[in-house]
Amino acid sequence: MGITTEYALASEKELLLQQASEVTPGGVHSALRNLEPRLVITKAKGAYLYDIDGKAYLDYQAAFGPPILGHAHPNVTRRIQEVLENLSLPGVGITLLEIELAKKLVQHVPSVEKVLFCNSGSEATYHALRLARAATGRKKIIKFQGCYHGFHDSIAMNVISPKEKLGRHDPISAGALPEVVQHTVICDFNSLESVEAAIRDNPGEIAAIILECIPHNIGCVLPEPGFLEGLRQITRQHGIILVFDEVITGFRHDLGGYQKICGVTPDLSTFGKAMANGVPIAALGGRADLMDQFNTRSGGTVFFAGTYNGHPIGCAAALATIEILEKPETYEYLYRLGDRVRAGLRDIMARHKVKSYVTGIGSVFLTYFLEGPVRNYNDLLNNDVQRFIEYRKRLVAKGIFKLPMNLKRNHISLAHTEADIDRTLQACEDTIKEMN
Ligand SMILES: Cc1ncc(COP(=O)(O)O)c(C=O)c1O
Repeated sequence: MGITTEYALASEKELLLQQASEVTPGGVHSALRNLEPRLVITKAKGAYLYDIDGKAYLDYQAAFGPPILGHAHPNVTRRIQEVLENLSLPGVGITLLEIELAKKLVQHVPSVEKVLFCNSGSEATYHALRLARAATGRKKIIKFQGCYHGFHDSIAMNVISPKEKLGRHDPISAGALPEVVQHTVICDFNSLESVEAAIRDNPGEIAAIILECIPHNIGCVLPEPGFLEGLRQITRQHGIILVFDEVITGFRHDLGGYQKICGVTPDLSTFGKAMANGVPIAALGGRADLMDQFNTRSGGTVFFAGTYNGHPIGCAAALATIEILEKPETYEYLYRLGDRVRAGLRDIMARHKVKSYVTGIGSVFLTYFLEGPVRNYNDLLNNDVQRFIEYRKRLVAKGIFKLPMNLKRNHISLAHTEADIDRTLQACEDTIKEMN
């Protein structure tokens, strides 16, 4: 019997969701997509997502960050089409696209003297940490509570941890090798004291400190003045490799990443997401003497390979995206819309006397339901989780898609308009009134 006959009375959407669950665990292909409302997306265009049931959503989730120009941007699509006419995956040598794109990263990002391309942020951070271990001959890594760097064992831990797990390892996956997990030391963001203590407790053992310079995986926690500078100083002093994971901040806040804004230059940096407006490509770049240790260069000892590395589609999409990001008016527009939504939200929350903290930077914004300021993850334990999720569920019902999940950020793209922002603010105010 075919799958379809069993569900003859169900709607087309329910049927598809049922089929998806039968052939894929949970019916989705990434853990954080398994949530209500369940969607079957038929179109993502500009600032909107379209569900198979005919509903349109103004999209602030933005697939966790990539489509900075808006979904299916015509320039990106055109560039990919042009490339595909003549080039699929050569798999030997180098393409003109890879050379051109690498030069762009070297030109724009302060820390990048040399760069290698891979396909996902997880790959980039994996290679960064293995390089750091090889270069220093040390085994341990420092990461911060609340930061996410991908799915591999060295760093897949201590992101959104329950209170009782704070101060110890909190792996996000079963099956992580305990021996690997034990080689990661967890520190508090914005606390140089916690980093100094970790280095003192593990003398000569720390290979790298990896961080999101703005921990966006818990919304938006801004680094306090002196924190990133302090990390730079401490890592130099102790011969530790400093890795800025700019998979979210890179290209979203500035073409040169947050490192360009804050003026602190790490040894290595990782990029992905907004780099190619939603097409899979990621990058690891940094000091030439470190990058030259990869065995893409004769004599290099750190393995670096990938069937799809530097794929023409990803390179073409990244070049088309960067071309638009290079126009000064692009970031001006994104920051202006970000300021407009944050100011509007602060006004709404103040008028309705809601205990809240509206924050963000550039095109990223969110409202925590707690009393700010927020210094690190510990402060976010005060967020009213139920209210945070309920508020977002009600917005989704009104056609404004903000991920209904604790501590998630929202993204504005070039395709969002001032009218979209104003409609969003109206929906937020209506929702706050309903909930008050
Ligand atoms: C800061 C950061 N680093 C790394 C990653 C992993 O990237 P990917 O999901 O492309 O493997 C993510 C993903 O959300 C991220 O936010």
